[in-house]
Amino acid sequence: MTRKTSAANPVLDRLLFPLAQRFVAGRTIPEAVQAVRRLNQDGIRATLDVLGENVREQRSAVAAVNSYLETLEWIHRSQIESNVSLKLTQMGLDIERQFCYSNVARICHKAAETGNFVRVDMEGSGYTEATLSLFLDLNQSYKNVGIVTQAYLRRSAQDLERINEAKARVRLCKGAYKEREEIAFQRMPEIRESFKRLVEQLFSHGTYPAIATHDDQLIRWTQECIRQNRIGKDQFEFQMLYGVRPETQRALAREGFRVRVYVPYGTHWLPYFSRRLRERKENIYFVLRHLFKR
Ligand code: FDA
Repeated sequence: MTRKTSAANPVLDRLLFPLAQRFVAGRTIPEAVQAVRRLNQDGIRATLDVLGENVREQRSAVAAVNSYLETLEWIHRSQIESNVSLKLTQMGLDIERQFCYSNVARICHKAAETGNFVRVDMEGSGYTEATLSLFLDLNQSYKNVGIVTQAYLRRSAQDLERINEAKARVRLCKGAYKEREEIAFQRMPEIRESFKRLVEQLFSHGTYPAIATHDDQLIRWTQECIRQNRIGKDQFEFQMLYGVRPETQRALAREGFRVRVYVPYGTHWLPYFSRRLRERKENIYFVLRHLFKR
C-alpha cells in the first residue's frame, strides 16, 4: 500500500498524526501487522480496521474493499491472530444498498476462504436500521460475519433479539456517537445498566459475545456474571481499543480471558481520532497542550 497523506489535509496530518498514533497503528499494512504481532506476543488477538467512513464515490468504496482484501491476505500470509472490522458507510451504504452489500460480500467471501471473520461496526443512529438489515441479509449467506450493538441506544434489546435469532455474533459496546435523548440514554449509570442487561441477554441467548469496554465496573461485573452462571472463559471475548488501557488488556490475557484489540490503521484517521478525543477531556487537553507548545 502506498503512503498517502491524511484524507483531511496535509497540515492537520503533520500536526496531529503524531498524536493520533496513540490510537492508530500506522498508515500502512506492514505497520499495522507489526502492531498486531506485538499484541499477539502478549497473548492478545486483534481485529484490523482499515480506517474510513462515509464515502461518497464508488471508487473510494472499491478502494476500501481492495484494502480489506489485501489486509486479509496479509493476515493469512503472516499468520497473525487477527480478523477484520469494517464500516458499511465505508463500503458505500450512502451510495446504494446493493452496491454496499456486494462489496461487503466480497470481503466475507475472501475471509471465508482463509477461515477468517468480518465484524460490521455500528455507526451513528441514522445508520442503525440500515446496518442491521443489511447485516441480517448478509448473515444468511455468510456465517463468518458479526455485528455491533450499542448499549446507549434504547432500541438495542429488540435488536439483540433479531440478531440472536439469527445466531450471529455480537460485539457489545457503549456507543461512541452523539445521540438524542429520545433514542439514547445519556447518563453513565443508565448506559451501564443497559450494558449489563444486554450482557445478560447475550450470555443467555447469544453466540460467542464480545464485551467491548475499558470500564472497570463493567469488566468486574462481567467476570462476576460468568462466575455465577458457570460460563467458561472461552465462551466470550473482552475487546478493547488499541492504545487504551494496554496494561488491563495484558492483565486480562494473563488471567486466562480471551482479549481482542481493535487495531485501526490507514490514512483516513481523523474521524476515528476525534471520537477517541471526545471520549475523554484529558485527551483534548493533551492535544491542545501539544499544539500550543509548538
Ligand atoms: P468509558 O468511556 O467509561 O471508559 C472507561 C475507562 O477507559 C476510562 O476511565 C479510561 O481509563 C479508559 N478510556 C476509555 N476511552 C478512552 C479514550 N478514548 N482515551 C483514553 N482512555 C480511555 N462504538 C461504536 O459506536 N461503534 C462501534 O462499532 C464500536 N466499536 C468498538 C470496538 C471496540 C473493541 C471497543 C473497545 C469500543 C468500540 N466502540 C464502538 C467505542 C465504544 O462505544 C466506547 O465509545 C468506548 O469503548 C469507550 O467506552 P468504555 O466502555 O470503554 O467506557
